[in-house]
Amino acid sequence: MKESLYNLPGTRSAVQPAEPADATATQARTVAEVLQQSQVEAVLAELEHDLVGLVPIKQRIRDIAALLVIDKLRLNLGLAAQTPTLHMCFTGNPGTGKTTVAMRMAEVLHRLKYVRKGHLVAVTRDDLVGQYIGHTAPKTREVLKKAMGGVLFIDEAYYLHRPENERDYGQEAIEILLQVMENQRDDLVVILAGYKARMDTFFQSNPGMRSRIAHHLDFPDYNVAELAQIAERMLTEQNYSFGEGTPEVFREYLKKRMAQPHFANARSVRNALDRARLRQASRLFAEAERELTVEDLTTITPADLLASRIFRSS
Ligand SMILES: Nc1ncnc2c1ncn2[C@@H]1O[C@H](COP(=O)(O)OP(=O)(O)O)[C@@H](O)[C@H]1O
Ligand SMILES: [Mg+2]
Repeated sequence: MKESLYNLPGTRSAVQPAEPADATATQARTVAEVLQQSQVEAVLAELEHDLVGLVPIKQRIRDIAALLVIDKLRLNLGLAAQTPTLHMCFTGNPGTGKTTVAMRMAEVLHRLKYVRKGHLVAVTRDDLVGQYIGHTAPKTREVLKKAMGGVLFIDEAYYLHRPENERDYGQEAIEILLQVMENQRDDLVVILAGYKARMDTFFQSNPGMRSRIAHHLDFPDYNVAELAQIAERMLTEQNYSFGEGTPEVFREYLKKRMAQPHFANARSVRNALDRARLRQASRLFAEAERELTVEDLTTITPADLLASRIFRSS
Protein backbone atom coordinates (compact mmCIF):
# COMPACT_ATOMS: atom_id res chain seq x y z
CA MET A 1 0.00 0.00 0.00
CA LYS A 2 1.09 3.55 -0.71
CA GLU A 3 -0.58 4.76 2.45
CA SER A 4 2.42 4.95 4.76
CA LEU A 5 4.58 6.41 2.03
CA TYR A 6 2.64 9.66 2.21
CA ASN A 7 2.13 9.65 5.93
CA LEU A 8 4.27 12.56 6.91
CA PRO A 9 6.30 12.41 10.10
CA GLY A 10 5.05 14.36 13.09
CA THR A 11 1.42 14.31 12.08
CA ARG A 12 -1.46 12.59 13.75
CA SER A 13 -2.92 9.48 12.28
CA ALA A 14 -6.57 9.28 11.35
CA VAL A 15 -7.46 6.91 14.19
CA GLN A 16 -6.63 9.17 17.09
CA PRO A 17 -9.41 11.11 18.80
CA ALA A 18 -9.77 14.67 17.62
CA GLU A 19 -9.50 16.19 21.05
CA PRO A 20 -7.29 14.29 23.50
CA ALA A 21 -6.14 17.29 25.57
CA ASP A 22 -9.61 18.59 26.37
CA ALA A 23 -11.11 15.28 27.36
CA THR A 24 -10.65 15.98 31.05
CA ALA A 25 -11.89 19.56 30.88
CA THR A 26 -15.61 20.15 31.22
CA GLN A 27 -17.18 18.44 28.28
CA ALA A 28 -19.58 20.71 26.52
CA ARG A 29 -23.15 19.49 26.26
CA THR A 30 -24.73 22.60 24.76
CA VAL A 31 -24.05 24.61 21.64
CA ALA A 32 -23.46 27.65 23.85
CA GLU A 33 -20.75 25.81 25.80
CA VAL A 34 -18.93 24.77 22.64
CA LEU A 35 -19.14 28.30 21.29
CA GLN A 36 -17.88 29.70 24.56
CA GLN A 37 -15.01 27.21 24.91
CA SER A 38 -13.87 27.59 21.32
CA GLN A 39 -14.32 31.36 20.99
CA VAL A 40 -15.37 30.65 17.43
CA GLU A 41 -18.17 33.18 17.58
CA ALA A 42 -15.64 36.01 17.65
CA VAL A 43 -14.22 34.84 14.31
CA LEU A 44 -17.67 34.50 12.79
CA ALA A 45 -18.59 37.97 14.01
CA GLU A 46 -15.40 39.40 12.52
CA LEU A 47 -16.12 37.70 9.23
CA GLU A 48 -19.59 39.23 9.26
CA HIS A 49 -18.29 42.66 10.15
CA ASP A 50 -15.03 42.93 8.17
CA LEU A 51 -16.18 41.61 4.83
CA VAL A 52 -18.59 43.55 2.66
CA GLY A 53 -21.39 41.60 0.96
CA LEU A 54 -20.73 37.86 0.48
CA VAL A 55 -24.02 37.04 2.19
CA PRO A 56 -24.35 33.47 0.84
CA ILE A 57 -20.68 32.74 1.60
CA LYS A 58 -20.97 33.97 5.18
CA GLN A 59 -24.05 31.78 5.63
CA ARG A 60 -22.19 28.72 4.31
CA ILE A 61 -19.32 29.35 6.72
CA ARG A 62 -21.84 29.59 9.57
CA ASP A 63 -23.43 26.33 8.41
CA ILE A 64 -20.06 24.59 8.37
CA ALA A 65 -19.28 25.97 11.83
CA ALA A 66 -22.66 24.70 13.06
CA LEU A 67 -21.89 21.26 11.67
CA LEU A 68 -18.58 21.22 13.51
CA VAL A 69 -20.10 22.43 16.78
CA ILE A 70 -22.72 19.67 16.65
CA ASP A 71 -20.00 17.19 15.71
CA LYS A 72 -18.13 18.25 18.85
CA LEU A 73 -21.23 17.64 20.98
CA ARG A 74 -21.68 14.24 19.35
CA LEU A 75 -18.05 13.43 20.04
CA ASN A 76 -18.48 14.41 23.68
CA LEU A 77 -21.31 11.88 23.95
CA GLY A 78 -19.27 9.24 22.17
CA LEU A 79 -21.33 9.39 19.01
CA ALA A 80 -18.96 10.59 16.33
CA ALA A 81 -17.28 7.92 14.28
CA GLN A 82 -15.13 9.89 11.86
CA THR A 83 -13.78 13.36 11.40
CA PRO A 84 -16.08 15.06 8.92
CA THR A 85 -14.55 15.76 5.53
CA LEU A 86 -13.77 19.46 5.39
CA HIS A 87 -11.96 19.86 2.10
CA MET A 88 -13.51 22.68 0.11
CA CYS A 89 -13.67 24.26 -3.27
CA PHE A 90 -13.91 28.06 -3.60
CA THR A 91 -14.90 29.16 -7.07
CA GLY A 92 -15.23 32.71 -8.34
CA ASN A 93 -13.56 35.42 -10.34
CA PRO A 94 -10.33 37.06 -9.19
CA GLY A 95 -10.64 39.44 -6.26
CA THR A 96 -13.94 38.08 -4.97
CA GLY A 97 -12.50 37.27 -1.53
CA LYS A 98 -11.58 33.59 -1.84
CA THR A 99 -8.15 33.88 -0.22
CA THR A 100 -9.47 36.23 2.46
CA VAL A 101 -12.33 33.90 3.39
CA ALA A 102 -9.97 30.90 3.34
CA MET A 103 -7.86 32.57 6.02
CA ARG A 104 -10.94 33.13 8.18
CA MET A 105 -12.02 29.56 7.57
CA ALA A 106 -8.62 28.37 8.78
CA GLU A 107 -9.17 30.29 11.98
CA VAL A 108 -12.66 28.80 12.47
CA LEU A 109 -11.25 25.30 11.97
CA HIS A 110 -8.48 26.06 14.42
CA ARG A 111 -10.76 27.38 17.14
CA LEU A 112 -12.95 24.32 16.82
CA LYS A 113 -9.79 22.20 16.98
CA TYR A 114 -10.14 20.59 13.57
CA VAL A 115 -6.60 21.64 12.81
CA ARG A 116 -3.79 22.19 15.30
CA LYS A 117 -2.36 25.47 14.09
CA GLY A 118 -4.83 27.21 11.80
CA HIS A 119 -2.31 28.73 9.40
CA LEU A 120 -2.88 28.99 5.67
CA VAL A 121 -0.35 27.92 3.06
CA ALA A 122 -1.26 29.31 -0.35
CA VAL A 123 0.28 27.64 -3.38
CA THR A 124 -0.10 27.24 -7.12
CA ARG A 125 0.92 24.47 -9.50
CA ASP A 126 4.55 25.60 -9.59
CA ASP A 127 4.94 25.08 -5.84
CA LEU A 128 3.78 21.47 -6.13
CA VAL A 129 4.97 20.23 -9.50
CA GLY A 130 8.61 19.84 -10.50
CA GLN A 131 10.20 20.30 -13.90
CA TYR A 132 11.99 16.97 -14.00
CA ILE A 133 11.29 13.37 -13.23
CA GLY A 134 11.48 12.69 -9.50
CA HIS A 135 11.09 16.31 -8.45
CA THR A 136 7.33 16.47 -7.99
CA ALA A 137 6.82 14.06 -5.09
CA PRO A 138 9.37 15.73 -2.78
CA LYS A 139 8.06 19.17 -3.72
CA THR A 140 4.46 18.27 -3.02
CA ARG A 141 5.36 16.51 0.23
CA GLU A 142 7.35 19.51 1.41
CA VAL A 143 4.34 21.76 0.84
CA LEU A 144 2.04 19.30 2.60
CA LYS A 145 4.40 19.18 5.54
CA LYS A 146 4.30 22.98 5.83
CA ALA A 147 0.53 23.03 5.58
CA MET A 148 -0.07 20.23 8.08
CA GLY A 149 -2.08 21.48 11.04
CA GLY A 150 -3.68 24.16 8.89
CA VAL A 151 -5.18 24.86 5.50
CA LEU A 152 -3.56 24.21 2.14
CA PHE A 153 -5.00 26.68 -0.37
CA ILE A 154 -4.34 25.68 -3.96
CA ASP A 155 -5.04 28.60 -6.27
CA GLU A 156 -6.07 27.79 -9.84
CA ALA A 157 -5.95 24.13 -8.87
CA TYR A 158 -7.04 22.98 -12.34
CA TYR A 159 -3.56 23.74 -13.68
CA LEU A 160 -2.47 20.58 -11.88
CA HIS A 161 -4.22 18.70 -14.64
CA ARG A 162 -2.91 19.10 -18.17
CA PRO A 163 -5.07 17.00 -20.45
CA GLU A 164 -2.88 17.74 -23.47
CA ASN A 165 0.08 16.05 -21.85
CA GLU A 166 -0.48 12.48 -20.73
CA ARG A 167 2.84 12.29 -18.87
CA ASP A 168 2.40 15.58 -17.06
CA TYR A 169 3.92 15.59 -13.56
CA GLY A 170 0.83 17.36 -12.25
CA GLN A 171 -0.90 14.01 -12.08
CA GLU A 172 1.69 12.83 -9.58
CA ALA A 173 0.96 15.82 -7.35
CA ILE A 174 -2.78 15.13 -7.62
CA GLU A 175 -2.29 11.53 -6.53
CA ILE A 176 -0.25 12.50 -3.49
CA LEU A 177 -2.82 15.14 -2.59
CA LEU A 178 -5.64 12.61 -2.88
CA GLN A 179 -3.86 10.25 -0.49
CA VAL A 180 -3.21 12.90 2.11
CA MET A 181 -6.69 14.39 1.76
CA GLU A 182 -8.07 10.98 2.62
CA ASN A 183 -5.65 9.82 5.30
CA GLN A 184 -4.84 13.03 7.11
CA ARG A 185 -8.07 14.92 6.90
CA ASP A 186 -8.15 15.24 10.67
CA ASP A 187 -5.25 17.68 10.54
CA LEU A 188 -5.20 19.19 7.08
CA VAL A 189 -7.92 20.93 5.15
CA VAL A 190 -7.37 21.47 1.45
CA ILE A 191 -9.15 24.31 -0.33
CA LEU A 192 -9.07 24.32 -4.12
CA ALA A 193 -9.72 27.71 -5.67
CA GLY A 194 -10.23 29.14 -9.13
CA TYR A 195 -12.69 30.00 -11.88
CA LYS A 196 -15.94 28.06 -11.69
CA ALA A 197 -16.05 26.72 -15.24
CA ARG A 198 -12.44 25.53 -15.23
CA MET A 199 -12.91 23.87 -11.86
CA ASP A 200 -15.97 22.02 -13.15
CA THR A 201 -13.92 20.70 -16.08
CA PHE A 202 -11.13 19.71 -13.71
CA PHE A 203 -13.54 17.72 -11.55
CA GLN A 204 -14.95 15.96 -14.60
CA SER A 205 -11.55 14.50 -15.36
CA ASN A 206 -10.64 14.04 -11.68
CA PRO A 207 -13.63 12.40 -10.02
CA GLY A 208 -11.42 11.31 -7.13
CA MET A 209 -10.76 14.93 -6.30
CA ARG A 210 -14.42 15.84 -6.55
CA SER A 211 -15.43 13.05 -4.22
CA ARG A 212 -13.09 14.33 -1.53
CA ILE A 213 -14.47 17.86 -1.60
CA ALA A 214 -17.30 18.25 0.88
CA HIS A 215 -18.14 21.92 0.42
CA HIS A 216 -18.41 23.92 -2.78
CA LEU A 217 -18.65 27.67 -2.27
CA ASP A 218 -19.25 29.96 -5.22
CA PHE A 219 -18.13 33.57 -4.76
CA PRO A 220 -20.24 36.10 -6.67
CA ASP A 221 -18.85 39.25 -8.30
CA TYR A 222 -19.36 42.42 -6.28
CA ASN A 223 -21.71 45.14 -7.48
CA VAL A 224 -20.77 48.82 -7.62
CA ALA A 225 -22.24 49.59 -4.21
CA GLU A 226 -20.28 46.75 -2.60
CA LEU A 227 -17.05 47.75 -4.33
CA ALA A 228 -17.53 51.33 -3.17
CA GLN A 229 -18.05 50.13 0.38
CA ILE A 230 -14.95 47.92 0.14
CA ALA A 231 -13.00 50.99 -0.99
CA GLU A 232 -14.17 53.00 2.02
CA ARG A 233 -13.11 50.19 4.36
CA MET A 234 -9.70 49.91 2.74
CA LEU A 235 -9.16 53.66 3.00
CA THR A 236 -10.22 53.78 6.65
CA GLU A 237 -7.78 50.98 7.44
CA GLN A 238 -4.97 53.09 6.02
CA ASN A 239 -6.08 56.35 7.58
CA TYR A 240 -7.34 57.93 4.40
CA SER A 241 -10.78 58.96 3.26
CA PHE A 242 -12.56 60.29 0.21
CA GLY A 243 -12.99 64.05 0.23
CA GLU A 244 -16.00 65.98 -0.98
CA GLY A 245 -17.30 64.74 -4.31
CA THR A 246 -14.85 61.84 -4.41
CA PRO A 247 -17.29 58.94 -3.74
CA GLU A 248 -19.30 59.98 -6.81
CA VAL A 249 -16.19 60.10 -8.99
CA PHE A 250 -15.08 56.74 -7.64
CA ARG A 251 -18.40 55.18 -8.65
CA GLU A 252 -17.91 56.56 -12.15
CA TYR A 253 -14.41 55.13 -12.11
CA LEU A 254 -15.75 51.73 -11.04
CA LYS A 255 -18.37 51.59 -13.76
CA LYS A 256 -15.73 52.29 -16.39
CA ARG A 257 -13.20 49.93 -14.87
CA MET A 258 -15.72 47.08 -14.57
CA ALA A 259 -16.35 47.26 -18.31
CA GLN A 260 -12.66 46.84 -19.07
CA PRO A 261 -10.74 43.60 -19.46
CA HIS A 262 -8.99 42.05 -16.45
CA PHE A 263 -11.31 43.64 -13.96
CA ALA A 264 -10.60 41.86 -10.68
CA ASN A 265 -13.29 42.95 -8.22
CA ALA A 266 -11.93 43.98 -4.82
CA ARG A 267 -8.35 43.57 -6.01
CA SER A 268 -8.91 46.20 -8.70
CA VAL A 269 -10.33 48.46 -5.99
CA ARG A 270 -7.18 47.99 -3.92
CA ASN A 271 -4.98 48.76 -6.92
CA ALA A 272 -7.03 51.82 -7.85
CA LEU A 273 -6.67 53.18 -4.33
CA ASP A 274 -2.92 52.55 -4.35
CA ARG A 275 -2.65 54.61 -7.50
CA ALA A 276 -4.88 57.34 -6.09
CA ARG A 277 -2.58 57.59 -3.08
CA LEU A 278 0.42 57.95 -5.37
CA ARG A 279 -1.32 60.79 -7.19
CA GLN A 280 -2.30 62.42 -3.91
CA ALA A 281 1.33 62.26 -2.83
CA SER A 282 2.61 63.88 -6.05
CA ARG A 283 -0.08 66.52 -5.80
CA LEU A 284 1.02 67.44 -2.26
CA PHE A 285 4.69 67.06 -3.11
CA ALA A 286 4.34 69.81 -5.66
CA GLU A 287 3.29 72.28 -2.97
CA ALA A 288 6.68 72.34 -1.32
CA GLU A 289 6.17 75.46 0.79
CA ARG A 290 2.66 74.87 2.12
CA GLU A 291 2.13 73.50 5.61
CA LEU A 292 0.17 70.27 5.18
CA THR A 293 -2.69 69.58 7.55
CA VAL A 294 -4.04 66.24 8.70
CA GLU A 295 -6.87 66.76 6.27
CA ASP A 296 -4.49 67.37 3.38
CA LEU A 297 -2.54 64.24 4.20
CA THR A 298 -5.53 61.95 4.60
CA THR A 299 -7.86 63.10 1.84
CA ILE A 300 -8.22 61.58 -1.60
CA THR A 301 -9.77 64.25 -3.83
CA PRO A 302 -11.67 63.86 -7.12
CA ALA A 303 -8.53 65.03 -8.94
CA ASP A 304 -6.61 62.03 -7.60
CA LEU A 305 -9.05 59.74 -9.40
CA LEU A 306 -9.80 61.83 -12.46
CA ALA A 307 -6.14 61.69 -13.49
CA SER A 308 -6.62 57.97 -14.16
CA ARG A 309 -6.24 56.68 -17.71
CA ILE A 310 -9.80 55.36 -17.38
CA PHE A 311 -11.22 58.86 -17.67
CA ARG A 312 -9.06 59.76 -20.64
CA SER A 313 -10.30 57.10 -23.04
CA SER A 314 -13.72 57.78 -24.62
N1 LIG B 1 -15.93 41.32 0.89
C1 LIG B 1 -14.79 42.00 1.05
N2 LIG B 1 -14.73 43.02 1.92
C2 LIG B 1 -13.60 43.73 2.08
N3 LIG B 1 -12.45 43.48 1.41
C3 LIG B 1 -12.44 42.47 0.53
C4 LIG B 1 -13.60 41.67 0.32
N4 LIG B 1 -13.30 40.74 -0.62
C5 LIG B 1 -12.03 40.93 -0.96
N5 LIG B 1 -11.49 41.96 -0.28
C6 LIG B 1 -10.11 42.45 -0.41
O1 LIG B 1 -9.78 42.39 -1.79
C7 LIG B 1 -8.49 41.85 -2.01
C8 LIG B 1 -8.57 40.62 -2.89
O2 LIG B 1 -9.22 39.58 -2.20
P1 LIG B 1 -8.77 38.05 -2.28
O3 LIG B 1 -9.30 37.35 -1.08
O4 LIG B 1 -7.28 37.98 -2.50
O5 LIG B 1 -9.54 37.58 -3.58
P2 LIG B 1 -9.35 36.23 -4.42
O6 LIG B 1 -8.54 35.28 -3.59
O7 LIG B 1 -10.75 35.77 -4.70
O8 LIG B 1 -8.64 36.63 -5.68
C9 LIG B 1 -7.91 41.60 -0.64
O9 LIG B 1 -7.10 42.70 -0.35
C10 LIG B 1 -9.12 41.57 0.29
O10 LIG B 1 -8.79 42.04 1.55
MG1 LIG C 1 -6.55 34.73 -4.22
